[in-house]
Amino acid sequence: MRLAILGGGGFRVPLVYGALVGDPLVDEVVLHDTSAQRLRVIASVVGAQQAVARREGHRAPAVRVTASLDEALRGADFVFSAIRVGGTEGRVRDERVPLGEGLLGQETVGAGGVLYGLRTVPVAMGIARRVKALAPDAWVINFTNPAGMVTEAMARVLGPRVIGICDSPVGLVRRAARAAGADPDAPGFGFDYVGLNHLGWLRSLTAGGRDLLPGLLADPAALATFEEGRLFGAEWLSALGSLPNEYLHYYYFRREALAAVRRSAATRGEFLHERQSAFFAAADGADGAVAYGLWQRARLEREQTYMAENRAATGGWERDPHDLDGGGYDRVALALMRAVARDEPAVLVLNVPGGGAVSLLDPQAVVEVPCEVGAFGARPLPVSAPDEHQGGLMLALKSVERAAIEAAETGSRAAALRALVRHPLVDSAAAAGRVLDAAGFSR
Ligand code: G6P
Ligand code: MN
Repeated sequence: MRLAILGGGGFRVPLVYGALVGDPLVDEVVLHDTSAQRLRVIASVVGAQQAVARREGHRAPAVRVTASLDEALRGADFVFSAIRVGGTEGRVRDERVPLGEGLLGQETVGAGGVLYGLRTVPVAMGIARRVKALAPDAWVINFTNPAGMVTEAMARVLGPRVIGICDSPVGLVRRAARAAGADPDAPGFGFDYVGLNHLGWLRSLTAGGRDLLPGLLADPAALATFEEGRLFGAEWLSALGSLPNEYLHYYYFRREALAAVRRSAATRGEFLHERQSAFFAAADGADGAVAYGLWQRARLEREQTYMAENRAATGGWERDPHDLDGGGYDRVALALMRAVARDEPAVLVLNVPGGGAVSLLDPQAVVEVPCEVGAFGARPLPVSAPDEHQGGLMLALKSVERAAIEAAETGSRAAALRALVRHPLVDSAAAAGRVLDAAGFSR
């Protein structure tokens, strides 16, 4: 089997490659990127991973590199789309521009997420059209953020052939299970999660036929042992009655999260831009093993500093080694690929058209829900209906996504303004207009 990775020069590609080592599923990985330097560096890191793996007697897929999208797509069985349109410089602007108006800047949430989507959707849809023309039987796994909006846009071209992934729901489930004393890999373990990408809630956690979530939500000591428990705090969690995805911290603690972002010297995008530019410059031309070592260090630093502002806003705690090991999106992708390619049934939380599983949204609307996965693709499992609060936010965000897709497709400033102002974290149409001006969206 051949796997094409679009955004093959991306910083996290070695994670994906590492997950493939030792598994006979993929014979060849084709890396495609629009940046020659990034492609060169990541190919050399992956080459070093391959050499280490083979020396230790493991299978490791062959690697090919191409600057041509069409060449990457031809003959691909799976396509990972993990692009960053505008590079990390683009993320810096998406996050900085709204901050100038006192609005949250985050790559997937609030005005920042809308700006990132406006730039990314046309490119993602262009890729979807090339896949449809050149590899109509391939499965596309979308990693590109904002993943919900981008998957919704690509699904208009590819239908159920595109599946969006994120590691935050499975991370939440596993961390919560551990805190409740359950083994998420044991038979009989189950859970109920519903939402859109970066906007979801875990509503039950069953083991041995019993729902462990009410007990966990009423146990401050257990809540203090994992990321989401610490972020949201025992009082709010027991009042809410569910465990929110970590990105809901920007909604439930918007003033504290925003204040922490404004206080920190660099935004997340600025930090990553600086660190990754330094990594790519230092690794370019270096020996593969040296580049691999530099990458490992930069990767650890990235994980340790993840959501640092949100943690600063809630007491400034460090991430737990368990939190760094929530399952990883590379492993979600591999589990999905394995289930589809080998028709080995699995249940994974994925972003797919809901097909009626969430009845308050139309069947085409992409939702993030537990899915049954097999050779047929991913099919949403029945979930209990979102409550009024969950449903209200899901509808609001779906209308944001759809207005942003309309704006991205047509260039309509009015649609872009609707996307921004419909967002619950944007409090002024006047400020939203200025954000569009500052972002250069003038059509
Ligand atoms: C989580 C999110 C992803 C995000 C990643 C890295 O895994 O679910 O959507 O891309 O973190 O975030 P960062 O801020 O480090 O780029
Ligand atoms: Mn995500």
